[in-house]
Amino acid sequence: MIEKKITSLDFERLMSEKPNDFIAQKIAGYDLRYAEISEEERDSFLKKIISTLLDQSLPFSGKHRHEQWEKGWGENFDELLKSRDKDKMMAAIMPRYFGKYRVVRLDQKFVKPITENFEPKILGLILDWLFDQYLRDVEAVYEFGCGPAYNLFRAREYNPSADLWGLDWAESSQKIIDKLAEEGFDRKLFSHKFDYFNPDKDFKLKKNSVVFTVASLEQIGDRYGAFVDYLLENKPDVCINVEPIGELLDEDNLLDYLSVEYFKKRKYLSGYLDYLRQLEKQGRIKILRAQRSYTGSLFVEGHSIIVWAPI
Ligand SMILES: C[S@@+](CC[C@H](N)C(=O)[O-])C[C@H]1O[C@@H](n2cnc3c(N)ncnc32)[C@H](O)[C@@H]1O
Repeated sequence: MIEKKITSLDFERLMSEKPNDFIAQKIAGYDLRYAEISEEERDSFLKKIISTLLDQSLPFSGKHRHEQWEKGWGENFDELLKSRDKDKMMAAIMPRYFGKYRVVRLDQKFVKPITENFEPKILGLILDWLFDQYLRDVEAVYEFGCGPAYNLFRAREYNPSADLWGLDWAESSQKIIDKLAEEGFDRKLFSHKFDYFNPDKDFKLKKNSVVFTVASLEQIGDRYGAFVDYLLENKPDVCINVEPIGELLDEDNLLDYLSVEYFKKRKYLSGYLDYLRQLEKQGRIKILRAQRSYTGSLFVEGHSIIVWAPI
């Protein structure tokens, strides 16, 4: 087995941009090691994807999933209450869905991760890269669809003084955030209930703020219009989306094609980037970045990046 490791040069090739010294150090620190897989292993992963795509009982996203999210983060909340040890409490809020299969997507191939928690680490690296560029000077940061809110603690590393807001339609998410705030994890950490399908117009964003989403807009299929209207009205400085974006993948490539089919099957985000491009043509927003990350899990390349700003 030949071991490989993601270097700054790899990152530059994937993101089409040279990382600065700070991010180069992060890349080295995460120590993202992996091995290539054999043809037989690739076939067995392809078979797994195809049989999943043919499975009629696969759950799909939408309004009916509210209870599942409530329950899922409720389990993390129960776990959080079991300990007062800070490290154990942070571990309690990590979602359980990472690393289910010993394979990830990298550069349109399957590879076998060697480093523990490879997938959340590489997603974390993408967020580091974005937060380093966009979060440093703002007064408030809002994560919509934040779940247990661990991304907000990463945001804090890039801005020591901003208000950090975690929003989600599941109340168990607010319970987690409120508990962490109460336990003194962060003195400017706040929560609010917010449903993308029915945005709370009374919840106003502060001036000089950044909004971000990570794998949560994915859950609303083609029903992002109300949320985008809400953002256009509130005018944050920048909106960052790290989400599955079919428009950025190459359907002539087998792995990309299967990823797009999986997005369709799960009724993930669809047509969002095209919609933003229309808004840009109308002079209502500016798209600052729209790029794939060439990283993902067995089923999807789910960490594409869009950064845009209301005008
Ligand atoms: C895959 S989780 C991602 C959570 C978090 N952003 C992260 O990176 O771990 C998807 C999140 O979207 C939230 N979500 C799904 N539909 C939503 C809706 N209509 N309004 C607000 N949040 C929603 C879920 O409750 C869940 O917390």
